[in-house]
Amino acid sequence: MCRIKSVTPAHTPLPMRILALETSCDDTACAIVDNGRHVLANVVQHQNRLHAVTGGVVPEVAARQHMVAVNEVITRALTEANCTLDDIDAIAATLGPGLIGSLVVGVSAAKSISFATGKPFIPVHHLVAHVCANVLGNNLTPPFLCLLVSGGHTQLMTIDADYKAAIVGETLDDAIGEAYDKVGRILGLPFPGGPQVDKLASSGNPTTYPLPMASTQHPWDFSYSGLKTAMNRLVTKEAAANPSGHLTETQRANLCASFQQAAITPLVNKTVAYAQQHNHHTITVCGGVSANSGLRQAMATACQQHGLALHVPTIGACTDNAAMVAAAAYFSPLPVTGDPLAADVFSRQPMPAAP
Ligand code: KG4
Ligand code: ZN
Repeated sequence: MCRIKSVTPAHTPLPMRILALETSCDDTACAIVDNGRHVLANVVQHQNRLHAVTGGVVPEVAARQHMVAVNEVITRALTEANCTLDDIDAIAATLGPGLIGSLVVGVSAAKSISFATGKPFIPVHHLVAHVCANVLGNNLTPPFLCLLVSGGHTQLMTIDADYKAAIVGETLDDAIGEAYDKVGRILGLPFPGGPQVDKLASSGNPTTYPLPMASTQHPWDFSYSGLKTAMNRLVTKEAAANPSGHLTETQRANLCASFQQAAITPLVNKTVAYAQQHNHHTITVCGGVSANSGLRQAMATACQQHGLALHVPTIGACTDNAAMVAAAAYFSPLPVTGDPLAADVFSRQPMPAAP
């Protein structure tokens, strides 16, 4: 019954227009991208308002909203790209890691289109997709050093010519995005906290509160649980010291700026030091936290000081989107044995590793 051939990674893929879906967490996204770089449409429907009620993503709620939104984002992407399914060469989707119920919706939709049209289905690893966000709209090619900073990951890795990763350092506890979101919650900011903390930090003084920057045994690892706990204590203490029992706007801005400085300084220092020690000339950053204005600014300054080339995705390509999934499908699809239409989703799985 199967009409679909397996797709294997290739160094120089043939010209291809890919329709990609991303539903690994709480963003329903569809994009249409030519040859892994040229974005014709990139539609993202966020669920932020839905999850603001609970202050975090409820997996079942996210999955059900993907089901409601998926057809609409596909139709919008086709309209935006001014094309029909006849103009598409392959259908891609994030197979994992992510929330299983969410992944199943996007993957099932992609497989259905693939089956109905006879066009190949290309499964993608979500973290490879984040790395590939760096090649959208430009001519960048690996190898390069990559700092991945998202809601679930904080990893420094080398990316080889086939987009295979070798992790050189990672968080020992919480991911940096998780820490940002937790600080947002402590300060009573709307979900997700990361962008809100970033915004407040820009009007605060980062030297107001000295916060711990964790030292790790391994020089390229990171740690955020101590900083998170320190922030929790500091916020409670500062609020209690005010007659109103609440923080002033100035205090909130200074707390965010101080947290941001403590959170991003190790990222910048370690990434640049690793590049220098190991002769890397190009640094890339990806994942939702790469949208952070403080990180982008500090990394740009450090790279300029040390003569390193820096690539960061456009803001819209930092957080979850489907254009990066299309880029990964083109340059580095997940290898599958057997029928890709039988490929199963997964909640956890490391990035395909460099040999
Ligand atoms: O990559 P992403 O969209 O989803 C995951 O794969 O995790 O990353 C989401 C994370 C959230 O923790 C969010 O708060 C954070 O990225 N984030 C930010 C900013 N924009 C998004 N954190 C700090 N500053 C931002 N501007
Ligand atoms: Zn992501």
